[in-house]
Amino acid sequence: MKTDMMAQTPPMGWNSWNTFFDQYDEKLIFDTADAMVEQGLLAAGYEYLIIDDCWSMRERDAAGKLVPNPEKFPGGIKAVADYVHSKGLKFGIYSCCGVRTCAGYPGSFEHEFSDAAQFAGWGVDYLKYDNCYRPRTMTSSMLYRRMSMALRQSGRDILLAACQWGTEDVHQWIRSSGAHTFRSTIDIQDAWKSIEAIASSQMENQCFNGPGCFNDMDMLVVGMYGKGLNPETSIGGCSDEEYQTHFALWAMMNSPLIIGCDIRNMSEKTKEILTNPDIIALNQDPECRSCYRIDVYGNPDTFVLVKPLSDGNYALGFFNFSDVAAKVSLDFWDMGLSCAFGQGMRFHDCFTHEDMGIQKEFFAPTVASHGCRVYRCSIAED
Ligand code: GAL
Repeated sequence: MKTDMMAQTPPMGWNSWNTFFDQYDEKLIFDTADAMVEQGLLAAGYEYLIIDDCWSMRERDAAGKLVPNPEKFPGGIKAVADYVHSKGLKFGIYSCCGVRTCAGYPGSFEHEFSDAAQFAGWGVDYLKYDNCYRPRTMTSSMLYRRMSMALRQSGRDILLAACQWGTEDVHQWIRSSGAHTFRSTIDIQDAWKSIEAIASSQMENQCFNGPGCFNDMDMLVVGMYGKGLNPETSIGGCSDEEYQTHFALWAMMNSPLIIGCDIRNMSEKTKEILTNPDIIALNQDPECRSCYRIDVYGNPDTFVLVKPLSDGNYALGFFNFSDVAAKVSLDFWDMGLSCAFGQGMRFHDCFTHEDMGIQKEFFAPTVASHGCRVYRCSIAED
């Protein structure tokens, strides 16, 4: 039986897919677990280590059980989970609600209860559950409900991450299925255009975020620099400015923060972006309020995101999606602050970590192309 309340804030972790595709094994996972601790990622909040598609054999065994690929995982999956747990991390695995996974390995269709029991026996804490090869007669809502039920019955707390890609109005029914996160877009690519398209398409899903179930905008490409082994994902890479904007968007929009780069060899800048405590605090704010968008007059490629925080502060993100630097201007009355009240906003810069004093009536930072400025603000008097 389920015992814990899971996903009270967006889950944070690392997943193998973006960088390693089908090319990973026990050693890589052990080294990644070590790196999550040594690089300070666990301390920053990244607790799940998740192996994606391609971990099993192509067929089930005679008893209908899933079989780990012995070349990749000679010690089996339980040994991997044990190692991950010994580091203070949680362990995630992947399956699919159809007859096969997206890469053609056995899916959990009509094996849900037995697979959930097998995962629980291995010590799995998180299941990414995909949407490929689903029999047309079965709705996605039925199959996600079924796996949720199987996991809740498994005797272990296993977070269900529905990888549903935003079809069949998933936001309408996913929370009631029992799943904890839901993918709402096609796969991310390591390119600015992909980041921009996903962020722009997800504003309307903001109201479906909240403790217990979050809109998953897909794994982070921060720090990949076009070097991943996954040909679908790695199509060029981004600048550090763009990765920083990507991270701030996902954080402010309450997406799970699941790292997709090779964390054994992170650049200093990648580590700085991924472990920025001021940005992570916006994502992990206990109230999990959604943000809203204020457009900037005359420049549709610039906008401000406003997210109310549980301590009474506001997160303000000034974003510039255009190809040139731009002033991104916010009049405080557009977020409800009455001029007659005579108060301004006290700004704390979430990138430099400096307090900047009080701004009155408006604030208009110049923001680099594809860049952002993010602040934690409180209403204040001079
Ligand atoms: C896709 C999913 C990706 C990855 C891949 C594995 O459907 O969106 O994140 O899991 O399948 O084959």
